[in-house]
Amino acid sequence: MSVRIILLLFVLTISQNLMSQRNCGSMDHYHELMDQYPDFKENRKAIEKATQAFINNPEKAVNGIITIPVVVHVVYNTAAENISDAQILSQITVLNDDFRRMNSDADNTWAQAADTEIEFCMATVDPNGNATNGITRTSTSVTSFSTNDNVKFNSSGGKDAWPRDDYLNIWVCDISGGILGYAQFPGGPAATDGVVNDYQYFGTTGTATAPFDLGRTCTHEVGHWLDLFHIWGDGPCGQDDGVGDTPTSDNPNYGCALGHVSCGSTDMVQNYMDYSDDACMNLYTQGQTTRMRALFDTNGFRESLLNSNGCGQGSPPTCTDGVEWTGNWCRLWWT
Ligand code: ARG
Ligand code: ZN
Ligand code: CA
Repeated sequence: MSVRIILLLFVLTISQNLMSQRNCGSMDHYHELMDQYPDFKENRKAIEKATQAFINNPEKAVNGIITIPVVVHVVYNTAAENISDAQILSQITVLNDDFRRMNSDADNTWAQAADTEIEFCMATVDPNGNATNGITRTSTSVTSFSTNDNVKFNSSGGKDAWPRDDYLNIWVCDISGGILGYAQFPGGPAATDGVVNDYQYFGTTGTATAPFDLGRTCTHEVGHWLDLFHIWGDGPCGQDDGVGDTPTSDNPNYGCALGHVSCGSTDMVQNYMDYSDDACMNLYTQGQTTRMRALFDTNGFRESLLNSNGCGQGSPPTCTDGVEWTGNWCRLWWT
């Protein structure tokens, strides 16, 4: 074996070791999907290519506020896990505050901190067109769930997703193994698209538990769902998160390691995509904003959400928009 091959094997082994030490549910899920869902790899490549094109051509930028309809599926085994509507709404408030940079702990430490102009609304219209409060409640015999996605199917003690073209699905349940939450990145199957959040680290009231009781787990997971990687790039200094204005870093930071230096620069421990405690986090950057918003560009992976009627914001269907040809009503009147 040549020295180069031995070196390559050495580097591969080291990165494998780093990978197995990570404790983020989302990256576990990412690698599980890479193995199990053959399209994921190709989809990820195409999405990344489109994202890079978007970053390089800001003229294409989608302008203005993007509002994403949300459905929260509460899947509970104990009464405590059946969290209140108020706790759910407290989480939606945090998402809106954090993504709009209206969070009360926003500060001027990092000039690149940005308002993503992405908002969230509780669904008011369900997939059948009926009124809803955007919350489903499912009693289950499953005492805790893992990153295997059982929580996302009626058939395995969970709750089926609503169409991802129109809704962000958030499942709230007991997750085993000390995982606060996990998300599916863009490019995965529709049936499992969305975010899973442990009921103890969701919202700011009720069962929310310190130091993860400010709703930042969901802010972090929705970041993954909108294609953000961890700020340290899930690897050593050279491995990046694909965002130009986040400082390079070699590992997650825990607690609140203000001023911690790695890879020759101060880590942005206040970023929602680090592993800091909730009270330490307070920003997304302009670069992360661009990366997320690329998904809503023409033919972007999450573009369809712009036309969702999930919060009753779309225009009512007409007989000429091609939507209602699955039903008979327009056929009766228009042919
Ligand atoms: N996916 C990460 C985990 O499960 C979430 C980290 C969230 N961090 C936070 N401060 N809420 O560990
Ligand atoms: Zn994560
Ligand atoms: Ca970076």
